[in-house]
Amino acid sequence: MPIKIGSLTVPGRVYVPPMAGVTDLVFRNIVRRVDKGCLLATEMVSSKGLMYKPETRIMDLASDEHPIGIQIFGHEPDIMANAAQIAEKKGADFVDINMGCPVPKITNGKDGCALMREPDLAREIVMSIKGAVSIPVTVKFRLGWDDSTKNCVEFGQMIESAGASAVTVHGRTRAQRYTGTADWTMIAEVKKNLNIPVFGNGDVFQPEDAARLLEMTGADGVAVARGTLGNPWLIPRITKYLDTGILDEPPDSVERLILAFQHSMGLLAYKGQRVGTSESRRHLINYTKGMHKSAPYRNRLTQIESAADVVAILSELAEQEAGTEGKRRFLAVVENYDLHDREHPCEWNGNGEGSFQPPVNVHAVLPVAKP
Ligand SMILES: Cc1cc2nc3c(=O)[nH]c(=O)nc-3n(C[C@H](O)[C@H](O)[C@H](O)COP(=O)(O)O)c2cc1C
Repeated sequence: MPIKIGSLTVPGRVYVPPMAGVTDLVFRNIVRRVDKGCLLATEMVSSKGLMYKPETRIMDLASDEHPIGIQIFGHEPDIMANAAQIAEKKGADFVDINMGCPVPKITNGKDGCALMREPDLAREIVMSIKGAVSIPVTVKFRLGWDDSTKNCVEFGQMIESAGASAVTVHGRTRAQRYTGTADWTMIAEVKKNLNIPVFGNGDVFQPEDAARLLEMTGADGVAVARGTLGNPWLIPRITKYLDTGILDEPPDSVERLILAFQHSMGLLAYKGQRVGTSESRRHLINYTKGMHKSAPYRNRLTQIESAADVVAILSELAEQEAGTEGKRRFLAVVENYDLHDREHPCEWNGNGEGSFQPPVNVHAVLPVAKP
């Protein structure tokens, strides 16, 4: 059943929520290749940072990735409203406010989850943003600050009355960070007490987990973050399982290695060789987890410095996993790519401020197929 987030109708029930350092344009393009309908979001953007530098590539959106939200963080209502207006201009379908980030660098400045201890300020932020933009406003938060202050139900009610159109609730406290297990029963309490859509979040790594979370919480949708790392197929597998009860197998190793390669080439093209290879390392490691005797390959992946390195290691792994036919399948895809080293990121508009002109056509920044 479609979910209505204010004026936005979302076709599916699955959301890939913000992950700093992960959900960039390239990652989202990879998710969109395997799933057309899920809800997407950018990495979090500093509202204060935007005051000094209103152009940031974190807000680059491609035309084919809607529905998508831009997440902002901060604690000054007027500065947050300004950031939300920039997000709206960039073409976001909704603006999400981060009230869940547990990292001290963020919470020390009253940002992220620290706002759960300042509900009046949190309300003011939502109202200020709501008055500044016409796209829906959503909020992502946790169960509370710590075990003795689990205020997610009242906090959610306050967020709703301030004008938010949906919430995402991660079933952990700030004190837990990512330890322990997510408590879905508290998410159920939030759902029971709110009228706007609720996305339940925390510890969904298999399609069956998503079904159990929705069943246990009554939530409208499910947000899946870490489960997608090196495993974007989880999203369409969840959607199919929820819609039909059919549990698709994950793709075979060679297909996984092909998508890993494409992800890495996207990063090299979009971010340039140095940053692209460095950011590719952990993604490639994630894609190869679980493959038989792959540990030595992961060791080598920590040291890649070029597209050629990526091809050499992944093609060997394809051969180990699926013989010469596996290697052939892998190299047949590689052949379509121009592997020349790219010292500089693509699409640099050369205006001296390091900014990119939106909207970015992601197909233009991904490596071009040779004619
Ligand atoms: C690497 C990483 C970066 C994250 N960055 C953000 C962020 O920028 N904003 C946010 O609201 N949550 C962020 N999160 C939290 C996730 O969106 C999600 O709430 C959390 O991982 C729990 O869901 P999961 O069990 O499905 O991973 C991040 C999580 C990870 C692992």
